[in-house]
Amino acid sequence: MKALTLEQIKTPLVLEERAGLVAAAGELVVRLKAAALNRRDYWITQGMYPGIEPPVVLGSDGAGVVSQLGSGVDSSWLGREVLINPGLDWGDDQAAQSSQFTILGQPRDGTFAAEVAVPATQVHDKPAHLDWREAAALPLAGVTAFRSLFSQGEVRRGETVLITGIGGGVATMALQFAVAAGANVWVTSSSSEKIDRAVGLGAKGGFDYRDEGWAKACAKSAGAPSTIIDSAGGAGYASLVNLAAAGGRIVNYGATAGPPDKLDLFKVFWKQLRLQGSTMGSPQDFVAMLAFVAQHAIAPVIDATFGLSQGQRAIELMESSPQFGKYVLEIE
Ligand SMILES: NC(=O)c1ccc[n+]([C@@H]2O[C@H](COP(=O)([O-])OP(=O)(O)OC[C@H]3O[C@@H](n4cnc5c(N)ncnc54)[C@H](OP(=O)(O)O)[C@@H]3O)[C@@H](O)[C@H]2O)c1
Repeated sequence: MKALTLEQIKTPLVLEERAGLVAAAGELVVRLKAAALNRRDYWITQGMYPGIEPPVVLGSDGAGVVSQLGSGVDSSWLGREVLINPGLDWGDDQAAQSSQFTILGQPRDGTFAAEVAVPATQVHDKPAHLDWREAAALPLAGVTAFRSLFSQGEVRRGETVLITGIGGGVATMALQFAVAAGANVWVTSSSSEKIDRAVGLGAKGGFDYRDEGWAKACAKSAGAPSTIIDSAGGAGYASLVNLAAAGGRIVNYGATAGPPDKLDLFKVFWKQLRLQGSTMGSPQDFVAMLAFVAQHAIAPVIDATFGLSQGQRAIELMESSPQFGKYVLEIE
């Protein structure tokens, strides 16, 4: 089978021919139709991720048809159209993942391949309203956005939500989810075109986070957001602490711009803010996310589609983040 493999950190991914997979006990093999990229794949190629063990097939997100069952797996799975929950071994605690938690596509071989093997508990029926590319784009970004917004951010109908860096795959999905939940959503971006596209998806408006006065303009137009969803951190984090409503929450699922330059703890305690971390989601979050997506007929925004052999090109594009939404690999 064909697989796009990271042989060595900071070298291009290699499309290689590998032996077909054999399903182990309790696992199944999915013949993939599509896979999707996440910034994690880019970080791994750059060596900016803990515990990288090449050679490894990257890719956390995928959708396809179950082609093989290991012993002990319910025979009804054979031939089913599925997508894959990439969070492995979360454990029993809803508050946080176990120390065994890993993500598909490092250390375990992932979805940038014709086939992937996963525990049978990781697959779910493909939502009927999604095509293969949309189904592949949903899992990692979807569960991260869902947990950040609802399990951690406690977003409710009518509340004001600010989502930063709206071009990001998770951010775009968080926008779609928050709009579907009836929140008043505002966004930030480095691109006015991306802000326009966000408005097209239901955002009330947006601000360029590179403009010095963006937070003041946001406070004037949007008021104080009760939930802020951020994956950047860095120098801009201080503005989020200033902007958040008293009693509000700032949920971070990433730190693309590094740690905050400064953190005004006086504002944090006086405004009774909750600074909340969030990572992917529990199996329960994943199931709830799938139900929400089906209920609201939400389809992930796909920026561009590549063939498996063009996966390296997609990784390179991620360096400058021109995308709005997800990059997808079609696999045939
Ligand atoms: N903890 C988790 O479970 C989890 C899950 C998924 C992702 N993450 C992390 O979250 C981050 C985003 O992931 P992704 O897959 O959604 O990435 P992505 O699709 O590559 O998104 C990158 C976006 O980040 C935005 N950005 C970059 N610098 C920024 C800044 N200084 N301020 C505000 N926004 C900025 C840009 O938005 P504009 O183009 O609009 O300017 C860019 O399009 C990454 O750090 C990733 O590792 C964590």
